[in-house]
Amino acid sequence: MDAQSGANIKTAKLTLGDQSWSFPVYEGTIGPEVIDVSKLYAETGRFTYDPGFTSTGACESKITYIDGDEGVLLYRGYPIEDLAEHGDFLETCYLLLYGELPNAAQKADFVDRVIHHTMVHEQMSRFFQGFRRDAHPMAVMVGCVGALSAFYHDSTDITDPTQRMIASIRMIAKMPTLAAMAYKYSVGQPFIYPKNDLDYASNFLRMCFAVPCEEYKPNPVLARAMDRIFTLHADHEQNASTSTVRLAGSTGANPFACIAAGIACLWGPAHGGANEAALKMLGEIGSVDRIPEYIKRSKDPNDSFRLMGFGHRVYKNYDPRAKIMQKTCHEVLHELGRNDPLLDVAMELERIALHDDYFIEKKLYPNVDFYSGITLRAMGFPTAMFTVLFALARTVGWIVQWKEMIEDPHQKLGRPRQLYSGATRRDYQPMSRRR
Ligand code: SDX
Repeated sequence: MDAQSGANIKTAKLTLGDQSWSFPVYEGTIGPEVIDVSKLYAETGRFTYDPGFTSTGACESKITYIDGDEGVLLYRGYPIEDLAEHGDFLETCYLLLYGELPNAAQKADFVDRVIHHTMVHEQMSRFFQGFRRDAHPMAVMVGCVGALSAFYHDSTDITDPTQRMIASIRMIAKMPTLAAMAYKYSVGQPFIYPKNDLDYASNFLRMCFAVPCEEYKPNPVLARAMDRIFTLHADHEQNASTSTVRLAGSTGANPFACIAAGIACLWGPAHGGANEAALKMLGEIGSVDRIPEYIKRSKDPNDSFRLMGFGHRVYKNYDPRAKIMQKTCHEVLHELGRNDPLLDVAMELERIALHDDYFIEKKLYPNVDFYSGITLRAMGFPTAMFTVLFALARTVGWIVQWKEMIEDPHQKLGRPRQLYSGATRRDYQPMSRRR
């Protein structure tokens, strides 16, 4: 039921001293009910207080549902396991955008539309020249995606549904091209243009790893793995970077600027940067016999060390994406005939942690970032590119959540309040009277 327009099924009563107030309670199709406190300040003169939004629903959404206790992730009602196993990334993009799985004609039309937006304006290649070759590719992506506004800003009327869909297709189509350009620039190789007769993942791998001097034939096993990794990362409800995109979009900022804000937020090691941090951590641990030392450190409240790729704000059970990532990791290493000692470290670390009382009590499990780094490194990506790949895949989630926010008749400018504990009013002191 649409929360704001459906009948309130019940109310929640707040009592403070001799006063009490009632607030409507809404229930969704699945998941926790919500208490609508939008009128709390007007009626009580008080704010809610919820740093980190651990108990706050910021919006109503029909896109993605996570049951953190059960380790369930649904895109438009379909379990991530089914989509990753039987579908592909562009089908998932269609599902997220339109709310239904495409039939054959719809899929073909959608793929054709995406394919014909994969090139970026030739001037974009000049943006890269301004960066150092060793710039972190996430810094390059924030700059270049934000710069897309300069090419489309005056033709992207966010109040026009047709323009919104074109902006969405453009973002899905151009992120692989920009990500590959960021990688090529970092290794000093020429940019490779997209090829329209390749599927999405193969096209991306070719733009990254082909060189003009010889033919490049994408490995179908690696392309399938890449495509599945994109599907796993496509959307994830109101995570930090999606909330950033929604907040930026609530001001009316253009979608390219909003996606650039999402990329910046994703970069942090507590969020999308965890895949890069997890591989570095596994490398620092180095061997199975050093695991107990790091497990001990991760439990020490006085030690800032955390097991990167472990724990999650919502999942208090195994992240379903991590299971699929682990399987994909084995497939890729097998296809490449590789044994990565860090995989042994990762699997032993997981085994020990999952039997350790601290991790059991705090419900800390591997998340999507725990195995992705090993997989991506085996595929040939440098560590610094891992979060760029996460951003590439999450772009569809960001843009779909942005569209839903813009199309929500109840959406308002996002503007949280605070608990103020600073200085009360005081008079300005001239320099002569300061100590
Ligand atoms: C992503 O939100 C999303 O959906 C994100 C994401 C997506 O798809 O968009 O799923 C992608 O960002 C996955 C998460 C990647 N981050 C990491 O792997 C970094 C390591 N994990 C931690 O930093 C932590 O688990 C967070 C930040 C992810 C979540 O932490 P919370 O919810 O803020 O919980 P918390 O930090 O308060 O942890 C609860 C307790 C704490 O102990 P106490 O203060 O209660 O004593 O668990 C401990 C923490 O110290 N803890 C860990 C730990 N993570 C939490 N202890 C050791 N190692 C860890 N990894």
